[in-house]
Amino acid sequence: MSLVLIIDDVPAMRDQYAYDLERLGGFRTLTASGGSDGLAKMASEPVDCVILDLEMPGVDGFEVLATLKKKGDPTPVIVYTGTGNYQRCVRAVKLGAYGFLSKDEPLERVVQEVENALQWSALRSEVGALRRQGGLDSPLLGESRAAAALKLQVDRLSAIPTAVLIMGESGSGKELVARRLHDAGPRAGKPFVAVNCAALPETMIESELFGHERGAFTGADRTRRGAFETATGGTLFLDEIGELPAPAQAKLLRVLENGRITRLGTHQEIRVDTRVVAATNRDLDAEVAAGRFRQDLLYRLNAHTVRVPPLRERLGDVPLLADHFLELTAEKFGQTRRTLDPEAARLLQAYDWARNNVRELRNVIERLVIASDDPVIGPEAIPQEIRGGSGPGTLPVGPASAVGTLKDLKAAAERQIVLSALERNQWHITQTAQQLGLADHSSLLKIMRRHGLKK
Ligand SMILES: Nc1ncnc2c1ncn2[C@@H]1O[C@H](COP(=O)(O)OP(=O)(O)OP(=O)(O)O)[C@@H](O)[C@H]1O
Ligand SMILES: [Mg+2]
Repeated sequence: MSLVLIIDDVPAMRDQYAYDLERLGGFRTLTASGGSDGLAKMASEPVDCVILDLEMPGVDGFEVLATLKKKGDPTPVIVYTGTGNYQRCVRAVKLGAYGFLSKDEPLERVVQEVENALQWSALRSEVGALRRQGGLDSPLLGESRAAAALKLQVDRLSAIPTAVLIMGESGSGKELVARRLHDAGPRAGKPFVAVNCAALPETMIESELFGHERGAFTGADRTRRGAFETATGGTLFLDEIGELPAPAQAKLLRVLENGRITRLGTHQEIRVDTRVVAATNRDLDAEVAAGRFRQDLLYRLNAHTVRVPPLRERLGDVPLLADHFLELTAEKFGQTRRTLDPEAARLLQAYDWARNNVRELRNVIERLVIASDDPVIGPEAIPQEIRGGSGPGTLPVGPASAVGTLKDLKAAAERQIVLSALERNQWHITQTAQQLGLADHSSLLKIMRRHGLKK
């Protein structure tokens, strides 16, 4: 049963509300005689909803709201005022109140308002949980050199409104980078709209991006805003930009050039202030060479590019990421938190994750958790294909590099092997040399110099 706290300095008022809410709404109630008392009660008992008087001596309702806001307390608060001054109520809502009532409203309205607030709060926590499970709320994790450089670059770019092109292999974290670009900058809190250019049929992508007027085409029975308009003030994330059909490419170029869109079925231009962030796992230069992507559009997009390093270039982040996914999985399935035994962690860190990068790691962790009940996951639980990956049979070089002379390929493989080992050992030279079976640390230094690998 939900617990409602009523904060009012007038005893008769708070007792009446408490009595009515119990009788009519079936809630449990708690009362407090003022702001400080109310905050203290909230600190000692989990309250589901608060009814708060704005005018009180000492700590008043506004101060209570400000304190809750500062603490990030998500409890919904309904305020009321006896003065009938709506200006004050509006101010309270701006401070984070869920809603407001007037003291003379019928009790049924008050019960209804409390029920709405409880429902809103339940939905909010459900959305939070879903976003966490979907990895959407995941912060961009990583402390390796490559991850730190990435975060630094993203934070710098987040401050300016120009277009950004994010490049990276599948599952490497491109969408997370796009979110951080948005969240770390002045557009945070404004809309972030994501459109996957590969997921929509060619005929629909333009209407999705630019909107349409009623009657623009068969089936357009009402006017609809496109993603550019919805995202105005915020960020439009164009995922898999390499898949955008040629006509839409031409229109996108025009929007990037003049900041105006035209909905399908009209010539009227609408100004938009939308920051475009595009992502691709394709080599867009090659797409341009093959005539599938406009060069002028590429130039517009790639003035600022972010390269998201594949996981094999930052294997040092594997334990941290694995730990994070263990926690997420436990939350998702309502299970107790597991840990990885050090040898199991080492196996994960020795794998190249070339197929699907961080997403693959996340999936592997999820499967490990489902597969057993052991609190500590041991090396025997790690799938064979991952253990095999650490053997000498597989080289941590992607298929893309499989072109060239044997000499070049050998050099590239050597560089990759050494780099991975260094990352794995936090660039500890002696330790890395040992793990690679080299005679001493100076042999490793020599190889590093040959490949221009520097800490
Ligand atoms: N640095 C990171 N820290 C935490 N989680 C990450 C990180 N990078 C990726 N992930 C997680 O890995 C998964 C894949 O990330 P994301 O969707 O951003 O990749 P992507 O590059 O957009 O993939 P695709 O190419 O398939 O579209 C998500 O669940 C995301 O939360
Ligand atoms: Mg993606």
